[in-house]
Amino acid sequence: MTGVTELGYLTLGVSDLAAWKTFAAEVLGLEVVPSDNPEKCFLRMDYWHHRIALVQNGSDDLLVSGLRVAGQVEFRAMAAKLEAAGVEIRIGSEAEAEERHVLEVMMLADPNGYALEIFHGPHVQFDKPFHPGRRMHGRFKTGGGGLGHVMQSQTAGLDTTCEFYRLLGMRGGIEYKLAFPGAPQTVPLMFLNCNERQHTFAFAGPGEKRINHLMLEVDNMADVGLAYDVVVKAGLPVIIEPGSHANDQMFSFYFKNPSGYMNEIGWGGRAALAQSEYYQSDAFGHAPVPGSMKGFMVPA
Ligand SMILES: [Fe+2]
Repeated sequence: MTGVTELGYLTLGVSDLAAWKTFAAEVLGLEVVPSDNPEKCFLRMDYWHHRIALVQNGSDDLLVSGLRVAGQVEFRAMAAKLEAAGVEIRIGSEAEAEERHVLEVMMLADPNGYALEIFHGPHVQFDKPFHPGRRMHGRFKTGGGGLGHVMQSQTAGLDTTCEFYRLLGMRGGIEYKLAFPGAPQTVPLMFLNCNERQHTFAFAGPGEKRINHLMLEVDNMADVGLAYDVVVKAGLPVIIEPGSHANDQMFSFYFKNPSGYMNEIGWGGRAALAQSEYYQSDAFGHAPVPGSMKGFMVPA
């Protein structure tokens, strides 16, 4: 079965590129790399040329998720599989692949209209070790798990969305039925995996933005604590206090970034289980800061 192997890169639209560069380097600890275009820059977190491209376009949202396949054979097999399933794809030109620092890329959209790119062959720079934008105890945990995970809103329905991503080779389904005091119904959250990371994509209900949060994992718990101190010192709003998720058991916290959605910094996540389970609350902590959850796809 041909399937995607990791979330390789993201393109984020921003309204204030200067603020994002400062945030990326000094709060997240990412390495900022300029591009030829003053309205675009790259963010590194490992040996890859980049994991995130920031584009100043005013959208303050996720523009493109780049999903990797193993190589050229798998790339062609994926294109054939998608076309046979009636999914419209466009094979990118060599210039488009070079712009993304990959060997080959195809463009498509998921049932929600969200832009996806499936690629193989990222540009890996072993001659340029990652240089964090601020002090870190350890490093970002990428490797076989990809750059992290993204929670997104959806309007096509969880079943339709899930079916599409299963076609791409992902596995998973509903893992949370969140219960809120006074709310008549639980809120379902769907989690999808394609590698050792417990989930690569998560989907909630409809939302103002495509993206709810972007999680980056660190390999040293002290970097979660350090990030918390840096966020507070920078005056950025903490949205969800430190705690541990029931599904990925990530020790993490959430805070607001310059685009108005959340970043999560986590440590110690476990792999996906072979059998399905669901949860109604997290293991411990993760208390929302009162009033801070408004607009984040779950009751405030
Ligand atoms: Fe998360």
